[in-house]
Amino acid sequence: MTVLVTGGAGYIGSHMVLALLDRGEDVVVVDNLSTGFRWAVPSPAELVVADAGDIDSVSRVIRERAVDAIIHFAGSIVVPDSVVDPLGYYLNNTVKSRSLIEAAVRCGVRHFIFSSTAAVYGMPEVNPVAEGARLAPISPYGSSKLMTETMLKDAAFAHPLAYVALRYFNVAGADPAGRSGQSTPRATHLIKVACEAVLGKRPRLEVFGTDYPTPDGTCIRDYIHVSDLARAHLLALDRLRSGSGSMVLNCGYGRGYSVLEVIDAVKRVSGVDFPVDYSGRRAGDPAALVAAADLIRTELGWQGEREDLDLIVADALAWERTLAVRLATA
Ligand code: UFG
Repeated sequence: MTVLVTGGAGYIGSHMVLALLDRGEDVVVVDNLSTGFRWAVPSPAELVVADAGDIDSVSRVIRERAVDAIIHFAGSIVVPDSVVDPLGYYLNNTVKSRSLIEAAVRCGVRHFIFSSTAAVYGMPEVNPVAEGARLAPISPYGSSKLMTETMLKDAAFAHPLAYVALRYFNVAGADPAGRSGQSTPRATHLIKVACEAVLGKRPRLEVFGTDYPTPDGTCIRDYIHVSDLARAHLLALDRLRSGSGSMVLNCGYGRGYSVLEVIDAVKRVSGVDFPVDYSGRRAGDPAALVAAADLIRTELGWQGEREDLDLIVADALAWERTLAVRLATA
């Protein structure tokens, strides 16, 4: 039995591959290396450089490697980019997912885990937001992911396929053993950007909006450690293999931090007081987005092991330092 990980050369995907290998699974990665890195795929996982939407290549991999489960990370992830290039996002996140699902169905793969997003909720009316809340994405990114959830629901009804869609909140941090981390250039995610400011890779951090209806006026998010997120996928895989039906689950801790609290944590953990500018709101940011995290705990028995914000920041910072050395010596 082999697990096929699409996007396994990327940030979250590479942590998933590590988690699978750590417990002795056979892993094959399909990644077109458009944003991922060859070096991020740890051995002995095999890397097949191909598009997750290339139905022939993917079908060949499934048959040759006796794949029993697909974990699908490949896709485009920058919300503002999706507003500028919606058709590119629908191609990468929706059309290619359709091909991948078809390959799974044709080749008889019965287990499918999908990287969905809290962006499917748009601007939630209540926080913490539960899985049954109204789905009203406000970006092509969120819509493109929701469409894939819909395809999976319909495909799982029509075919012998069961899936778990995991709706990620704000993924951050890095492998505690220092084997992987967020490596993309031109990062936009808060904790990554703040760590770059600590190392002087950028002169300052900009806070987007201080007039939100939150206690300190900045946006609140639920930051989840990437290794805890990877473990949620392992538990989802176990459930699917045990014959469970399909599920849609939030992936967050159920605790929110404001932008200013995150900045304080990064300054505290690093001991570096980098400059901060305060500017206007960034388009499309909901004021608060916090997961109702009960369902994943009861359904999968999942619990965070690195929930503490300082731990998340410490791991992200350690990786940023590793990356700086790596780039300097490359
Ligand atoms: N922020 C700043 N300055 C920065 C970067 C971010 O103030 O330099 C703020 C943002 O405005 C936001 C918060 O920090 O209030 C978090 O922003 P991120 O860009 O880190 O993450 P998002 O909340 O925008 O994105 C996350 C996920 C997406 C998901 C989205 C749903 O990464 O995949 O939530 O809203 F789609």
